[in-house]
Amino acid sequence: MISFYLNGKYHEISHLNPNTTVLEYLRLHEHHTDTKEGCGSGDCGACTIMAQRLPNHATSDSSDSIPFYTFNSCIALLSLMDGHHLMTASYLADNPAHHPERALLHPAQQAMVDCHGSQCGFCTPGFVMSLANLYENHRMQQQKNAKQGSSNGQPANELLSNDELSYDDIVASISGNLCRCTGYRPIIEAGLTMGKIGQQRDADKTVAKDLTISLATDAMASDSKSQPKTASLDTSNKASTIEPALSEESRQLFIPKTVDELNQLLAVYPSATIWAGGTDLGLSITQHLVDHEVIIQLSAIDELRTWSLFHSKSSSKAGSKSLSELGNSTDNKAAVQELTFGAGMTYQQMLPILEQYYPAFAALFARTASPQIRNMGTLGGNIANASPIGDLPPILLALEARIHLRHCSPNNRDVGGEDASAKDESNEHNKTSYVDEIIPLSEFFLDYKKTKLRVGSYIFAIHMPLMQDNQHLFIHKISKRYEDDISACLVAVRIDLSADGMAIDHAKIGLGGMAAIPLLVKNCQQALLGQPLEIASFKKAAKALPMDVSPLTDVRASREYRLHVVQRLLIKCGKQLIKETQTERESS
Ligand SMILES: Cc1cc2nc3c(=O)[nH]c(=O)nc-3n(C[C@H](O)[C@H](O)[C@H](O)COP(=O)(O)OP(=O)(O)OC[C@H]3O[C@@H](n4cnc5c(N)ncnc54)[C@H](O)[C@@H]3O)c2cc1C
Ligand code: FES
Ligand code: FES
Repeated sequence: MISFYLNGKYHEISHLNPNTTVLEYLRLHEHHTDTKEGCGSGDCGACTIMAQRLPNHATSDSSDSIPFYTFNSCIALLSLMDGHHLMTASYLADNPAHHPERALLHPAQQAMVDCHGSQCGFCTPGFVMSLANLYENHRMQQQKNAKQGSSNGQPANELLSNDELSYDDIVASISGNLCRCTGYRPIIEAGLTMGKIGQQRDADKTVAKDLTISLATDAMASDSKSQPKTASLDTSNKASTIEPALSEESRQLFIPKTVDELNQLLAVYPSATIWAGGTDLGLSITQHLVDHEVIIQLSAIDELRTWSLFHSKSSSKAGSKSLSELGNSTDNKAAVQELTFGAGMTYQQMLPILEQYYPAFAALFARTASPQIRNMGTLGGNIANASPIGDLPPILLALEARIHLRHCSPNNRDVGGEDASAKDESNEHNKTSYVDEIIPLSEFFLDYKKTKLRVGSYIFAIHMPLMQDNQHLFIHKISKRYEDDISACLVAVRIDLSADGMAIDHAKIGLGGMAAIPLLVKNCQQALLGQPLEIASFKKAAKALPMDVSPLTDVRASREYRLHVVQRLLIKCGKQLIKETQTERESS
């Protein structure tokens, strides 16, 4: 069974085609036609709605400090909303019972009216949701700051009126929404106005609608106290005793809560579709009309959604212990620190960590997909998808990341190699074995859309060495549109300088969009080794590019353009590096 709130109302469902998307459920089952369908592929944002992952009742009884997020309801499975509160545009306005004259529009809605942000209106609910999401999260943050500020003696109302949303905040928040008739100026103006509407209402003491839910007394809270419905798996007779969360006829969808449950399920259903954020897979339903038979959804496995920092001399600093221990097990040889991300981390979850440890990597996220997609899409999905134009693999290759694979089967014993380790997970009901394999990411991609993953395998985590002081990372993405566009090509260059900073000790260059797989370009790298830190060295490396790759011409770019632009970008990275080292020298 899945349970969730929709516009404040509790829902429980167990019999439904697991391939049902949120949008299909909203429009066809619940007749919430305020959410629109445009492209059906995550590109236009017309179907954008807001959600909030509800808290575990054990730790909190209110959702008032959990951020809201937006997503494209057209490509999201309804099952991903298990344990969430979903909000559509009509829920944002406060109803006339509360405000007798007429419904009080949400500040984002009122601002769209005031600024003439809508013409045909088809895109409007999506824009309203993106703006309301920004407004509500900003307000939540302000209230937190005000609480902290007032406990430090600063007046709360002063803190609340400060720190207004900027033009850039508004543009970023609507970068996944398209409008074909109004034009963006009035919509951006609405975004800049909504904060003032909220402030005026605060000043007038107009009671605003609280979108958060109190869980203390309702059904979902009491349900979360009950025993987990996933009891045990009996793999001996291949009949799973684990309950599917959704089923209809022969189709089933499982939502394991732990990696142990995932291992057990994969041992029974090795060919099941592994579903992470579904930002790639959702299109298989809406564009290719695939009806997935058995789906295993990863979203509830906290262990896959955590990160950890491994120091060679101490234990992990943050995140899941088990992830750090797994990093530890293969790292005793190398006195290197590394960051481990669980494969189920979304872009949005990774962002603050990347900002701290790999700022150049974090900066790319403004160019990767849209806020709606970044809230759902995961690291594991981007790698497993093995698209030659995926944004993350070339960067991870340049960072010399390692990938942690897990191969599950009732009797799995056939993976060898230095880093392979077999484990038996036994309990009185079942005996499921799995094999862990940690390999350099450069060995993972075999051919177009072919990887080391096989039936019953999944990506558990990614280990990334931390940047050292002599290392520099540069990333450039080329796409037709600045935001929300797949790359024509992507260049990630990591250079390690010698102790005196005058020569290149080590170079790793990851490319996307230049071959059937994301790859490291060995001849270009070799051309840089031991070379002085000057532009001529990078020009030499750029000349070697045709020895490494022979790109194709497609709708995004011609072969000649791809070669030319990547050569120019390699030289640009050299210029950036020289400038960066000069600045460092001047400031030291
Ligand atoms: C509008 C739009 C814009 C996009 N823009 C970009 C972009 O700019 N750059 C970019 O790189 N991508 C982009 N994408 C593609 C997509 O968002 C990313 O590839 C995303 O990271 C996929 O992650 P997911 O969790 O949604 O994967 P899913 O769709 O859930 O899964 C994708 C594949 O990975 C497999 N999988 C997922 N997790 C695991 C795991 N842990 N172990 C084994 N297999 C697994 C699934 O079985 C499936 O085969 C875009 C997609 C859309 C719809
Ligand atoms: S309908 Fe276009 S993004 Fe969903
Ligand atoms: S108002 Fe018509 S598409 Fe935006």
